[in-house]
Amino acid sequence: MFSRSASRTFTQSRQFSSSAARQTKVAVLGAGGGIGQPLSLLLKQNKLVTSLNLYDIRGAPGVAADVSHIDSPSKVTGYPADQLDQALEGVKVVVIPAGVPRKPGMTRDDLFNTNASIVRDLAAAVARVSPEAHLLIISNPVNSTVPIVSETLKKAGVYNPQRVFGVTTLDVVRAARFLSEVTGAHPDECKVTVVGGHSGSTIVPLLSQIAHGKGVKGETYDKLVHRIQFGGDEVVKAKDGAGSATLSMAYAGAKFADALLRGLSGEKGVVTPTFVKSDLFAQEGIEYFSSNVELGVNGVENIHPLGPLSAEEEKLLAACLPDLKKNIEKGEAFAAQS
Ligand code: NAD
Ligand code: LMR
Repeated sequence: MFSRSASRTFTQSRQFSSSAARQTKVAVLGAGGGIGQPLSLLLKQNKLVTSLNLYDIRGAPGVAADVSHIDSPSKVTGYPADQLDQALEGVKVVVIPAGVPRKPGMTRDDLFNTNASIVRDLAAAVARVSPEAHLLIISNPVNSTVPIVSETLKKAGVYNPQRVFGVTTLDVVRAARFLSEVTGAHPDECKVTVVGGHSGSTIVPLLSQIAHGKGVKGETYDKLVHRIQFGGDEVVKAKDGAGSATLSMAYAGAKFADALLRGLSGEKGVVTPTFVKSDLFAQEGIEYFSSNVELGVNGVENIHPLGPLSAEEEKLLAACLPDLKKNIEKGEAFAAQS
């Protein structure tokens, strides 16, 4: 059993093939969508990606033809609705932004009924065709879709918790930007660790852990925390029915994919928050949690402890845990019935 102060290290094989690293095939499932298109554009520019397979039930061949003209070495292939298995052949990393986005007035949990089965079916295909792939889950509600993917892989007998990630990078990106707006400091000096999950009260920014964050107090602190927790709502409201964050999410998804690819290729010290199977709160019955994770040749190498929390952060964490637990259990219950 792990305590919050313990760090978790995976001790599986650290064998690393440099030729495998040079051949990194990445698939995007949902590549025709608001996130999928700009994410594919950004991944085409990543030197660690050698092949890019773009799949969607609508429009992926067109997106692929367009992106393929960009003058970077990777090969881009588009796959229509009936070619999911072909899109997954030999892939090392699968990024999943497939699913419906929110409209004003909706919570991320309101997307569950539609997105749960989309994510389950895509995970089942990954289990069948590319069981060793690393899965990056963007589709909401992330707090539930990550357990659904994990349970689906378990059923297929191919689950490895080191290879399943909920992408919470947009919360980290927002925290850096919003803190820089409050303090006037450069966003690079405002790198806030954001832990917990990816929705409202489950998003817990640890502002006290960095120099520019610890000075923010009172009403300014409360407003900043609220903005980080509910930044997604700002975009949903401004888009007025046309969806949720796509461009900033594509940026965040590409940033996380790059971190993972660097870890997989042998770079040391790649650490970023992500929502993974974690023992940090297992005693509270919470199996998945986002915290700083070291990424390496096997995916998750080491889950960092949370570190010291302020009194305010302890309160935020106390509010996060029950909501997060419910979201995770909902995903697990869905997968169990499927
Ligand atoms: P979108 O509607 O623009 O695009 C979704 C795409 O998924 C569409 O092209 C659709 O054809 C495709 N799709 C649907 N079912 C599919 C299937 N079975 N296989 C393959 N593709 C399929 O939506 P979007 O704005 O790109 O958002 C996608 C998801 O990402 C939403 O669930 C949204 O809530 C989520 N999201 C997550 C974060 C995060 O921080 N993790 C941030 C923003 C959005
Ligand atoms: C976000 O944080 O922008 C995404 O989760 C999309 C949403 O529904 O807000």
